[in-house]
Amino acid sequence: MRKFIIGNWKMQLSDRDSVALAEAVVRGWAERQSDPSSAQVVICPSHLVLAEVHDIVHGTGIGLGGQDAFWEDKGAFTGEISPATLAELGAKYCIVGHSERRQHLGETDDMVNKKVVALLRRDLYPIVCVGETAEERDSGRRDSVLVTQIRAALKATALSEEQRIIVAYEPRWAIGTGRAADPNDAAEAHQLIRDELIELYGVEKTERQCAVIYGGSVTSENLGSFLGHSIIEGALVGGASLDAKEFLMMADIASRT
Ligand code: PGA
Repeated sequence: MRKFIIGNWKMQLSDRDSVALAEAVVRGWAERQSDPSSAQVVICPSHLVLAEVHDIVHGTGIGLGGQDAFWEDKGAFTGEISPATLAELGAKYCIVGHSERRQHLGETDDMVNKKVVALLRRDLYPIVCVGETAEERDSGRRDSVLVTQIRAALKATALSEEQRIIVAYEPRWAIGTGRAADPNDAAEAHQLIRDELIELYGVEKTERQCAVIYGGSVTSENLGSFLGHSIIEGALVGGASLDAKEFLMMADIASRT
């Protein structure tokens, strides 16, 4: 499977800067990439610029994702955005359960599960974030936390042929801290997640329709050491995705791996 390089722009950019960054990524990708099918690049801008960024990336092979979605397609849910609208705006991917949402907005495993189910219903590809806190890790609970989060997030999902799920292993203490996980340690967590996916969907569907990627202080400097483990199938990148040159460098590394 192609390696994923997914940029999560969070709430970091103005509309104008988002458009400029999308244009720079598209320009650079078209210039540098000899084989555009060798890595799957995805960008997740703010919902407010999705339509505009869609026009920029359309037809380039670069995928577009939302940063969150609600679990209903329509209704009295002030401030929310539905999977149906995301699809209409041209998104194919959507991040769910990011630790910043779990931490600041009280997002629970149950909510994450409802979102995953709703996204799959629209054939959008959920990027499901899981990961332990520093305290959970220090008390030896990394594995049990990951298993609980995965099982809860993917409860009552059966992947039909056109559906895909990406799980991002993002240890909370590594996000935005400049302190990335040790790649061997991350690979071990990926194995655990993959085993859970196999348990849920079987080997074949896991191979074909699921990917497990790493997130947390990824840069062009350390990406190679993560992708050196074949079980790490890409990266979810925050801070380092805001610089087109740096982001494209990561896409290049993923293309060669
Ligand atoms: P970071 O963010 O790369 O800035 O650590 C990753 C993420 O939040 O997905």
